[in-house]
Amino acid sequence: MRIYCEKDYNAMSRRAAAVIAAQVVSKPDCVLGLATGSTPIGAYKQLIEWNKQGDLSFAEVRSVNLDEYYGLAPDHDQSYRYFMQTNLFDHVDIAVENTNVPSGLAADPAAECARYEQVVADLGYADLQLLGLGRNGHIGFNEPCADFPAATHLVDLTQSTIEANARFFASADDVPKQALTMGIGTIMKARKILVVASGADKADAVWKAFSGPITPEVPASILQLHPDVTLVGDESALAKLMEDKA
Ligand code: F6R
Repeated sequence: MRIYCEKDYNAMSRRAAAVIAAQVVSKPDCVLGLATGSTPIGAYKQLIEWNKQGDLSFAEVRSVNLDEYYGLAPDHDQSYRYFMQTNLFDHVDIAVENTNVPSGLAADPAAECARYEQVVADLGYADLQLLGLGRNGHIGFNEPCADFPAATHLVDLTQSTIEANARFFASADDVPKQALTMGIGTIMKARKILVVASGADKADAVWKAFSGPITPEVPASILQLHPDVTLVGDESALAKLMEDKA
């Protein structure tokens, strides 16, 4: 596992963008596994800048996103499809038909999960999967639970995730209670994993994920078994882990 401990959010974002750009440069038609949330926004900004400068092209890239809220339309301003369009896709030369996000409006969520898992499988799984980390150690929307779910599935969001995401909605009551998410198995099939973490409120999750026991109670802890993980964090997010490793 490679660890980059950067001094602040901006430096962390540039480093994460460099890891993604290296993947795209070395394999222009790669499959990028992408994430939403506040942590990757700075990295996406940097990628947009390099694309605008002509240094990086997404013309042949295919993408698969981790997850989507169940019940939100793609044009809802809190849907993850909308997030990806506004924070990345609309600003780079990626072809929208090459981008994949689970459908939040599927009448039959189980069928949509099976369809999405097949889409990711048909693409050969991600060459590089970007992951943010929930404060409870979740990855995608794989919440702490009794076992590691393998494939794309519908999940009930935990109260802590609903509360963490309530800042983006008028109230916690407006946060969808379910989501479609790639499973831990889907994520682990990516050839490389890039985890990004920023801020002191992630220090505990980072430490548990990479220094604690491997347990579905901390879904990210499974990444200790992945052969190619890069962790890019700022000093406050990595404080506890680095202290432990010192
Ligand atoms: C996003 C996702 C989530 C977030 C995590 C961290 O697609 O699947 O697992 O990565 O909740 O979110 P932020 O970055 O907002 O702290």
